[in-house]
Amino acid sequence: AKTKLLGLPGSLRRESYSRAVLQGLAADNDGTVELQIGHVDLPLYNSDLDGDDAPEAVREFRQAVAASDGLVIATPEYNHGIPGVLKNALDWASRPRGSSSLMGKPVLVVSASPAFTGGVRAQAQLNETLHAAECRLVGGPQIVIGNVGDKVRDGRLVDPAILDFAREGLKRLQAMIAG
Ligand code: FNR
Repeated sequence: AKTKLLGLPGSLRRESYSRAVLQGLAADNDGTVELQIGHVDLPLYNSDLDGDDAPEAVREFRQAVAASDGLVIATPEYNHGIPGVLKNALDWASRPRGSSSLMGKPVLVVSASPAFTGGVRAQAQLNETLHAAECRLVGGPQIVIGNVGDKVRDGRLVDPAILDFAREGLKRLQAMIAG
């Protein structure tokens, strides 16, 4: 069976480079991976709204995370950190504490930016949040994609060198899932 991965772009932008990175990986892997691309467009976290009657979009998000074998999160960098919309979605998914959909979930992190720094600071911050939520983080070389605007065509990452590099990360994620 194929490894069922959920890709989460940390951007709501129609022409998001982060989504384009995931589209590239979804279209161009070795065929053993099914990478579905989701979204992080959720209402702002409020524990008054959290419980059995949590917003529909939140319940769907948690179910999509739970149903996946693992996550691939592609984050932009906003002011040297992760976009609030991504942090918000991870905060929702991290609850209820101790039995959340993120607990024990294998995650591969990727960052991308038009700047040559490739979102490396956001990546470090994202790792900390995922660690707090008790995810299992794929280690090894960090997949940091600088100058991403030059590496995307028609909404999809096409640069062969960075695709090769990112596919190695997917393999490490699959190995972690296989245990
Ligand atoms: C940015 N951008 C940015 N880039 C970066 O490398 N480091 C940074 O700290 C920031 N800060 C920042 C703040 C805000 C509020 C915006 C809107 C943008 C630029 C950012 O990398 C660029 O807009 C990307 O295209 C955003 O990712 P998506 O939407 O293409 O996935």
